[in-house]
Amino acid sequence: MNAEGTDTRGPGERTDTRGPGGRTDARGPRRGRRIGYRMATACALAGAGLLGGCGGGGQSTLHPHSGPAHDIRTLWWWMLAVAGVVFLGAVGLLLLAWMRRRRPGLPLLGEDEGATVGLVVVFGFVIPALVLVALFVVSDLGIRTTEAPAAGSTPLTVEVTGHQWFWEIRYPGTQAVTANELHIPVRTRVNVITKTADVIHSFWVPELNRKQDMVPGLPNRLLLYADKPGVYGGQCAEFCGAQHTHMGLLVFADPPQRFRSWLANMGAARVAPGTPTERRGEAVFQASQCASCHTIRGTPARGVIGPDLTHLATRSTLAARTIPNRPGYLGGWVLDPQHIKPESKMPGFNLSGPDFQALLAYLRSLR
Ligand code: CUA
Repeated sequence: MNAEGTDTRGPGERTDTRGPGGRTDARGPRRGRRIGYRMATACALAGAGLLGGCGGGGQSTLHPHSGPAHDIRTLWWWMLAVAGVVFLGAVGLLLLAWMRRRRPGLPLLGEDEGATVGLVVVFGFVIPALVLVALFVVSDLGIRTTEAPAAGSTPLTVEVTGHQWFWEIRYPGTQAVTANELHIPVRTRVNVITKTADVIHSFWVPELNRKQDMVPGLPNRLLLYADKPGVYGGQCAEFCGAQHTHMGLLVFADPPQRFRSWLANMGAARVAPGTPTERRGEAVFQASQCASCHTIRGTPARGVIGPDLTHLATRSTLAARTIPNRPGYLGGWVLDPQHIKPESKMPGFNLSGPDFQALLAYLRSLR
């Protein structure tokens, strides 16, 4: 592969730790320790890459950035605490039973059959029933903040449609269409209408609110609200096929002024190519299969199979937050997407060097 970006390994992921000639090593424990250290470093780096994801948006339920997400975190800690008490209680009783295995009867209560039955009823039925009812009331009835906003009750409505495997994002009332990177104004209630174009997906931005399934034929609603400006990570939370894992998204909570100018730009047609190379790139795009799957507003390209590319260069990630939107990665994606995201609908393209470079320059100009 000639494009820089086709190597998708992260730093430190070189796994060949053999010496020259592939001999297993006879030079003693120091080298063994060095290899161990290198492998540990590689694992730590790979782990950090996985945890950090692509594009920097955090997505931990334990770091909430909205009222609903705070309530969900509180509930999570309560459930963990209650489950912990129940677990420790059960382990304690098991230990007690084991230590007293040779003695007849119960501690304190002796061999009273009524007391034995009473214990089974209390610990096996009454306490579990009380705990489960309490948790049900708190989680399903008590947390009102996570509820979907009534239609028309928010200053902004966004439509997010799940596809195998990307998120299509529209702003009703405007021409704006984008993918995988949802912008909202900070400290503003946003009504997200969730839909799907194919199978069931689930829209989930853990630091902002609960999950919302995207069910064929049944649009749902979800409240999005962010306490402070920032980038929040999201993930499809319902298995939806081979690339379910690579169906990530980013939510940008922008100051209102910046959000308005972003939205105005998203609604506009593409920036006309400014250089001969970019013009050639646009011609390559229109003449190839690209145009039958992707839309670039302001050109004849009207495809709806893949994401809208009108302002592709403004996005920070590609392929639903799978790789960064940088020239090498973009080149690798165009040449061999099946290597990065097997079974996605994007085919690889076999273009001449100059056509390929022109296409990249054009795509990079779509701001
Ligand atoms: Cu979409 Cu999982």
